Parts: sequence; structure tokens; C-alpha cells
Amino acid sequence: MRGLVARAADAPLRVESIEVPATGPGQVRVRIRASGVCHSDLSMADGTLAAPYPLLLGHEAAGVVEEVGDGVHRVAPGDHVVLNWAPACRSCWFCRHDEPWLCRRNGAPAVARGHTLDGRPLHVTLGLGALAEQVLVPQEAAVAVPADLPFPAAALLGCAVLTGVGAVRRTAGVAPGDSVAVIGLGGVGLSAVAAARAAGAGVVIGVDVSPAKAELAAAAGATDFLLADDSLVRAVRGLTGGRGADHAVECVGRAATIRTAWQSTRRGGQVVVVGMGGKDDIVGLSALDVFHSARTLCSSVYGSSDPDRDVPELARAVLDGTLDLSYLVTDRATLDEVPEAFARMARGEGARTVVQFD
Ligand code: APR
Ligand code: ZN
Repeated sequence: MRGLVARAADAPLRVESIEVPATGPGQVRVRIRASGVCHSDLSMADGTLAAPYPLLLGHEAAGVVEEVGDGVHRVAPGDHVVLNWAPACRSCWFCRHDEPWLCRRNGAPAVARGHTLDGRPLHVTLGLGALAEQVLVPQEAAVAVPADLPFPAAALLGCAVLTGVGAVRRTAGVAPGDSVAVIGLGGVGLSAVAAARAAGAGVVIGVDVSPAKAELAAAAGATDFLLADDSLVRAVRGLTGGRGADHAVECVGRAATIRTAWQSTRRGGQVVVVGMGGKDDIVGLSALDVFHSARTLCSSVYGSSDPDRDVPELARAVLDGTLDLSYLVTDRATLDEVPEAFARMARGEGARTVVQFD
């Protein structure tokens, strides 16, 4: 099958011919129908996030089950599924304490599933490798969804939407009347904006370095848009009674924007880090400020979500019209065009590019 491969950090990406092993016990083979281009793939391709190479990219996708191995009971051939990049074991300490997104068996940027490239082992991103015609995954990574859910929307439920919506609803617990600043308006941040508005937040401020994001912010339900420049923190205070926002949600993945989120939050407020930054990018906070501000700094992994519960719920919301994802997909591409989609992403253009397969 064909798939998009990074052979080394920052090497040119190429669509390669990949050998997929036979479907083993408990595994399912899924034919991909739509796959989103997420910033984490770019970060692994360019070396911002350390990963083993060669690496098959992609982790935000939906498709149709083609083949199941022995002992598979969750899905059957023909089922439409969203892929979950953090399938829970349901038995480790975290799973037993209702934090399946922190399941002990997840967290590696890439794992080996027996794929090979020119006879050499090929790693797959977040256990999926979904910028490809097929994936081979444990059955727990396949979440069945209604067949009338369009594939592009289904794909985005698997990463950007689950992450952005979950960060607001579950991690931050945004309540009616709260003020929320969302920093970074890609697929993840725009989903966070939409969720904040749906949760009844009074002021929802979208923040980005790219002025072109103002329109997308409005489409997602932001009440205000601010450019991330030197006047940002003052401007956020101006929209929030001089205090700063109750919640700031960082959806970029850099120390500098985590600091901006921190400064945009009121005393006693909450900073939720959703972006995945580099291990050498250090966040500096003064000891006095940490004490005096009384703020909470936390992160949100996979939106503190359980995809088995939350993906079907989001799918129902898309189908009954209460969750509109249409503005999120701004570009369509083929596998060969994904490098151009990464370039658009690096320039801060558009929201999501989705690769569609027949
Ligand atoms: N201040 C504000 N916005 C910024 C800044 C900055 N300093 N730098 C970049 N941005 C904006 C970009 O212009 C872009 O609109 O952040 C947005 C990031 O969007 P995408 O690149 O589309 O990223 P996305 O896929 O939404 O992921 C965001 O979440 O899952 C993680 O690894 C992922 O860290 C990434 C983050
Ligand atoms: Zn992602």
C-alpha cells in the first residue's frame, strides 16, 4: 500500500510503497477514507518531537473495517470506524482510576506494528500511521460510528475535535458565563473555541499570529479575535473586566505561548496546555508569580477524553446538527500533496487539510 513516510528528521517527505503484515489475532485492518493533517505529524516529521525513523505519518483518520483477526469482537468488516491513537488497556492504574487517556501502554510517538519499507522496519505514528491507504491496529483502536457520518468529519473527531472539545469541557470544565482565551487557531484551537461557546462561555477570545484566522475564529463562535502581538495581554484584560480570562487554552505547543496563556489569565484562573512542544523549550515562571497569581497550570492529553464514550457522542452531535465542523475543513488534498499542506500549516493558513481516499 501507499503511505507518507519521513525517512529522517526534516528529510523531504515521500509517498512510499509499504508492506503491511497479515492481520493478527485481536487486530483489525482498516481501509482509510479520510485522514487529517495534524500539527503533531509535522512536529514528528521535522524533528520538533523526537521520533524513530523511518516513520509512517498520520493519526487522525476514519475508514471502513476490511478484515478482522481471530478474537475480534468490537467491530466487523464493513463497519465505519474512527481511529483512536490512545486505546486504553482498561486494567492499568490510570485506566482503573478513570484516566484512560493516560493509559500506561500509550504515549510513545511511534511504535512498530510489523510494517516494512524496503525490507526494513517502519514505525507508525501514535500506533496508527494513518496518512496511508490502510492501517493495521489493535481492535481497541477502532471506534465504530454511524455509517451516515461523513468521513472527513469522522476523521477530525479522532484527534483535533476530541482534543479541543475535551480540553474545554473535560479538562477546564468551562461553565456558563466564563471567559476563555484560546491561543492558536488551527484544527485543535478552533474546536476549543466552538466548545467554549457551546458551553455557554460569555467571552471567547480567539488569538493567533495570523490575521487570516479572524474569519475562522468568528465561524467557530469566538466573540473576539486578537492578534498575538505585544499588546495582547493588555487587550485580553480589556475584554475581561481588567482581570484576565478565567481560562486560557494553549493550542500551539511552545514555551512562549504557554507564557502568553499564563499572562492572559486572571488571578486564580486556569491555564490548559493542549499543544505538544519540544523537550528543550523551557517555560520560565518566577516563583513569586506562581505564588501570587494563584493560577492553575495543567495540560490536557487527548482532551481528557475516553474515545469509546466521547467519539460516538460527538458523532451524534455532528449528525443532529448541534456540532458544525464544516468550517474546519478548509482544504482537501491527495497523499502526494500533504507536504504542501504542512507548508500551509507552518504559514498559519487555513484550518484543516483532509486527505480523502476512494
Ligand atoms: N501565538 C499565537 N498563535 C500562534 C503562534 C503564536 N506565537 N504561533 C503559531 N500560532 C498559530 C498558528 O498560526 C496556527 O493557526 O497556532 C495555530 C496552530 O495550528 P495548527 O498548526 O493547525 O496546529 P493544530 O493541528 O491545531 O495543533 C495545535 O496541538 O495537538 C497539538 O501537536 C499539536 O502542538 C500542536 C497543537
Ligand atoms: Zn493530532
